Amino acid sequence: MTNPQPLQALVTGANRGLGLALTRQLLAAGHRVIAACRQPGRATALNHLSGDFPGHLRVLPLELASDASIAELAREAALVAGPIDRLINNAGVLHAGERFGRLSSSNLEDSFRSNAAAPLLLTQALAGQLADGAKVANLSSQLGSIANTTAFRTPSYAISKAAQNMAARLLAAELAPRGIVVLALHPGWVRTDMGGAKADIEADEAAAGILQVVADASLADSGRFLDWRGNTLAW
Ligand SMILES: NC(=O)c1ccc[n+]([C@@H]2O[C@H](COP(=O)([O-])OP(=O)(O)OC[C@H]3O[C@@H](n4cnc5c(N)ncnc54)[C@H](OP(=O)(O)O)[C@@H]3O)[C@@H](O)[C@H]2O)c1
Repeated sequence: MTNPQPLQALVTGANRGLGLALTRQLLAAGHRVIAACRQPGRATALNHLSGDFPGHLRVLPLELASDASIAELAREAALVAGPIDRLINNAGVLHAGERFGRLSSSNLEDSFRSNAAAPLLLTQALAGQLADGAKVANLSSQLGSIANTTAFRTPSYAISKAAQNMAARLLAAELAPRGIVVLALHPGWVRTDMGGAKADIEADEAAAGILQVVADASLADSGRFLDWRGNTLAW
């Protein structure tokens, strides 16, 4: 996303972690960002960025679990911005500490809703505002790789990310006639609240890699599962 042409982006989960790093880097590159988060009034870091990049950042509410919130974000995005060139479905949830024998339907359902259904539904809601040739980046995870799964780890998360990957393939097929590229992207193991302090890389490094992979992707790459360095992951 180091395109010299200013772009309009929309990033979900933009108040912290990878979403905040993505938002900061997009703004620093001269792009405009709609930053979606659950509680804009409490998004201190984002609200500081608004001051640093006047007129380039709009912070709008989004609760992934709510159909009404998804519809309202799409409605408001159309009021505050023109065509969207980059949609980054970044917000997600990981329920830690799950063990076989103690799985709960609430974790499974919340994970599916937040990680798989919501990015699909938001992309559907925004489809009319996506520019022809736009790029949709779904933040997936290598834990969603069915082929690479050998242990019973974070099952709600893993299942939901595998479902999200299927949604990315479906969207890639649906949106290809408009030249819209859809990617499933693993950002690496990133030092955020989700990734923890022992993770491999900082959010800024992961965000820079993700934005580069998105910038480099062409329609021929649509529907691929890639990591933050552009390497292909097994489904
Ligand atoms: N960190 C890693 O190592 C890693 C590895 C692989 C994939 N990923 C993926 O990368 C993405 C970003 O991860 P991260 O490490 O930045 O996670 P994070 O630090 O836990 O941040 C998660 C973001 O998602 C938002 N969110 C969660 N549930 C939401 C909901 N129901 N409605 C609206 N927003 C919601 C959070 O908002 P609140 O602040 O309101 O909770 C927060 O902004 C996720 O999709 C994650 O699965 C991360």
